[in-house]
Amino acid sequence: MENIKAAVNLHELKKHMPDDIEVSNELMRKDGESDREWHDRIQHEREIKYTKILERKKVRGFLRRFSYYNETGVLKHTFKAVEMTSEAVRNTAKHVKKLADEYKNGQIFNMVLQGEPGTGKSMLASCLLNDVNNNADPAMRCMYLSATLFRRLAMDQNRDVDNRDDKLNKAIDLKNVMDHIKDADLLVLDDLGSETSMQITNIKPANETMQKALFDLADSRQGKSTIITTNYSSDDLKLMYNPKIIDRIFTANKDHVIKFDGITSYRMLHN
Ligand SMILES: Nc1ncnc2c1ncn2[C@@H]1O[C@H](COP(=O)(O)OP(=O)(O)OP(=O)(O)O)[C@@H](O)[C@H]1O
Ligand SMILES: [Mg+2]
Repeated sequence: MENIKAAVNLHELKKHMPDDIEVSNELMRKDGESDREWHDRIQHEREIKYTKILERKKVRGFLRRFSYYNETGVLKHTFKAVEMTSEAVRNTAKHVKKLADEYKNGQIFNMVLQGEPGTGKSMLASCLLNDVNNNADPAMRCMYLSATLFRRLAMDQNRDVDNRDDKLNKAIDLKNVMDHIKDADLLVLDDLGSETSMQITNIKPANETMQKALFDLADSRQGKSTIITTNYSSDDLKLMYNPKIIDRIFTANKDHVIKFDGITSYRMLHN
């Protein structure tokens, strides 16, 4: 009899709860518990659970709120959407997926995705980031940052707000972006090197403002995970930036450096 009453009341309670909050069996009425005590216990547990859900949503929303990118779709890419155009793409995607699992298991390490234009580095970095963002438990703060936009932000900070390059930069303060970079558990810094040098054969050092901005970024990422995508080798990047900067955001672990060699540009395949 007691159980039937409990079931009916649980059913009533469930009707008023947000859809995704389940009442577990532990919330069944205990022997000798009054209606009031039972109700209070359920309310208390629901509040704890709901608070956790809200916190997780907030952490997961970090990616959408604080990412800076040029290409639409960056926050939508999934591993399922990657076309296995060759064996090399299949192996590379598998490798990136394995490292996504390691991040989800709480490991902290840097990664580098290195290779020719159009081979899918940014896409796979986004797939990994979205996977970690949606599935890491406890949730992780994820952020996507285009190196080109980062450069524009850094350069614009020297100008008056009214003289800044574009509307976006008028509204964004580098200091806030730096705070988010520091807070992110996992950061993708996309296309490092292209913001400084458009020609692979004529590499020039980055200007002082950008050196300083990237130094601050690298320094604030100690103890956190950073993923770099780039067309350049670490030696080339060290010609653009102080080697101290590159050493901080690169990795010596070969398993974490993924070379997109032997992959044909997806852009070429589809043109
Ligand atoms: N295996 C794939 N399956 C589906 N789409 C792909 C694949 N590889 C690349 N693409 C698409 O091709 C385009 C180029 O890929 P992407 O931007 O990831 O290349 P990239 O290596 O980052 O190039 P770059 O060095 O110029 O930045 C993107 O629109 C991406 O979504
Ligand atoms: Mg790219």
